Amino acid sequence: MDQGDAPRRCRDTDCDEILRGLEASQKRLPSKFFYDERGSALFDRICELPEYYVTRTERAIMQAHAGEMAQMLGENVRLVEFGSGSSVKTRLLLDRLDTAAYIPVDISSEHLHRTARELAQTYPTLPIQPLVADFTEPLLLPEESSESRSTAVYFPGSTLGNFEPAPATALLRNIRALVGNDGGLLIGADLQKDQRELEAAYDDAAGVTAEFNLNLLAHLNRDYGATFQLDAFKHLARYNTRHGRIEMHLVAQAAHDFTIFGERFSMRADETIHTENSYKYTLESLSALACASGFAPGRTWTDPAQRFVVQWWRGRKQSQCMAQAA
Ligand code: AVJ
Repeated sequence: MDQGDAPRRCRDTDCDEILRGLEASQKRLPSKFFYDERGSALFDRICELPEYYVTRTERAIMQAHAGEMAQMLGENVRLVEFGSGSSVKTRLLLDRLDTAAYIPVDISSEHLHRTARELAQTYPTLPIQPLVADFTEPLLLPEESSESRSTAVYFPGSTLGNFEPAPATALLRNIRALVGNDGGLLIGADLQKDQRELEAAYDDAAGVTAEFNLNLLAHLNRDYGATFQLDAFKHLARYNTRHGRIEMHLVAQAAHDFTIFGERFSMRADETIHTENSYKYTLESLSALACASGFAPGRTWTDPAQRFVVQWWRGRKQSQCMAQAA
């Protein structure tokens, strides 16, 4: 190897996660790398697709019940949103909520700050404290003002579904620590349903989800010096019934070599990179997750077809959890 062109050494957790994923026998890349500026814009387009019922259904639930949700959250609440993106659904809450401060947390800096500026126009008296962060790492929140009586986390969009059960529980326990005994979590989760409906939602006719999936590689090329050839890969989405999750993969169409961080990787034809899990829940499995992470599941709001659920989880002291009866 040319000594003058030493490979970039792997020093940070991003690099570490990427290399560990690509070295595994089933190659994988973390879903959070979807969300660069372009990926966040593509995700916003996905939310408007006819096949992607998720956002539309959750928005309708919020529209119907935001008043009740605001009541659960209580007065002078400090609202922290995980993966805030464009904060569209949040407006429905903010319109009805007695909010001491709003802290949107997102990994995509441009997107977050643009959204914060737009929100400031609508809510000129609301303190907005955007935080660029990877919420899978411990968060350092700004100091709490004296007005705020409790902290609540809003975690909509079924973003939790990106996490396998163990990391999901770990993340929820972090949220539980953040909100304490007096606060809570308002969480949106996608429910199990017909396989064809699920697969269509992740493989739309217009090809936007395929573009979103491929953008993960484009992002690694742009920002991490990777050499993926985008047209060598095809989008795949399928429901894994055993795990109750949609899986997205990128399938190599022919043998393909690429490098990243000075490491070379080879893929066989038809080999895949697993880029996303999107877990689908039942009301029971979601309640069990609440209990396992130190919360007590409270009010539940769904749409008439039970496609999606929004649930309020109270912080609780030990041994007060009642999982919803099956
Ligand atoms: C933002 C994680 C909820 O899993 O439905 C949409 C991301 N991926 N289409 C989801 C996504 C493909 C989305 N979440």
